[in-house]
Amino acid sequence: MKDPFRTIEWKQDHIRLLDQTLLPLREEYIEIRTVPEMCDAIRRLAVRGAPAIGVAAAMGIALGILNARDDDRGAFDTLFGQVCSEIAATRPTAVNLFWAVERMKAKAAANLDVSELKKVLVAEAVLMEQEDRMLCESIGRIGSILLDEGDTVLTHCNAGGLATAGYGTALGVIRAAFEEGKKIRVFADETRPLNQGARITCWELHKLGIPVTLIPDNTAATLMQRGRIQKVIVGADRIAANGDAANKIGTYSVGVLAKYHGIPFYVAAPLSTVDLATPSGNGIPIEERDPCEVTHIAGVRIAPEGVPACNFAFDVTPHHLIAGIVTENGIATEPYEESLRALFAQKGSPVRS
Ligand code: MRU
Repeated sequence: MKDPFRTIEWKQDHIRLLDQTLLPLREEYIEIRTVPEMCDAIRRLAVRGAPAIGVAAAMGIALGILNARDDDRGAFDTLFGQVCSEIAATRPTAVNLFWAVERMKAKAAANLDVSELKKVLVAEAVLMEQEDRMLCESIGRIGSILLDEGDTVLTHCNAGGLATAGYGTALGVIRAAFEEGKKIRVFADETRPLNQGARITCWELHKLGIPVTLIPDNTAATLMQRGRIQKVIVGADRIAANGDAANKIGTYSVGVLAKYHGIPFYVAAPLSTVDLATPSGNGIPIEERDPCEVTHIAGVRIAPEGVPACNFAFDVTPHHLIAGIVTENGIATEPYEESLRALFAQKGSPVRS
């Protein structure tokens, strides 16, 4: 089935993206025409989810050099460096963003005329968008084996088509199993404070006709205790070399709960989310966002004035809680140090130190 929306798209001289902050009440596409606009879209989560942020970063860079003068390579290089720095400063946790910046830098190092370089960089950004969708479809096909007929699967946050260029990672696995004819049901954690589960995962699954039930974040334990959840599958923003996986805040608690109840907990992500240069989860930078996202809901204050709030956007699930990491090259299992590296060693893997 075709995706019922387009997360992000290159349009000759601008970028079109679905503003995810407005979902599910409004389905509105916005046009991004400048680098500050793209940085703002990434920061305020109009475009979000690690792989989608990577594509947005690459397209933002391509946009930023589009109007550079064709006769001054030195000026082009300076501008390119500034644009890359601005994009890289938007959000710290999703490694796909930095992976995309590095990939664009490698292309920009070519000894070409500025006019040629511009074409090469636009083509690379567009290619990354196309590749990402294909990778997600592979992740779905490979991971669907983990889901059995009749399973009810818990997911946290949104790792669907909207968090990628299309199809999704964790939701891609669910979607592939569903498309194979398995009867799969989903529990979606609401995912406080920004409610990506309630607003986005439920919207996506509902559009795809996959049965989904929304639950408050504090309901997973009781559902597991009652035997109502057979599998957990989530996405990731950065996976360290030892398999520790950073994902939306609250994922770690779900991992602990799953272990306690003997429920397999899987992570699905492209290899561009695996950061072999970071040995363990301790080295993953965790974004802290505005406390207002916790003290307010839709602009309405829910906590007393003067009470501080803690707003980590991500947490790290230790590798020993993870039953498998589904990638486009196969499923890694313990010991992740070895299995993740082996997946990278396969042909066609993204280059990473
Ligand atoms: O803050 P967000 O909405 O960008 O966080 C997104 C997540 O945590 C996703 O689960 C993760 O990026 C995986 S997306 C395939």
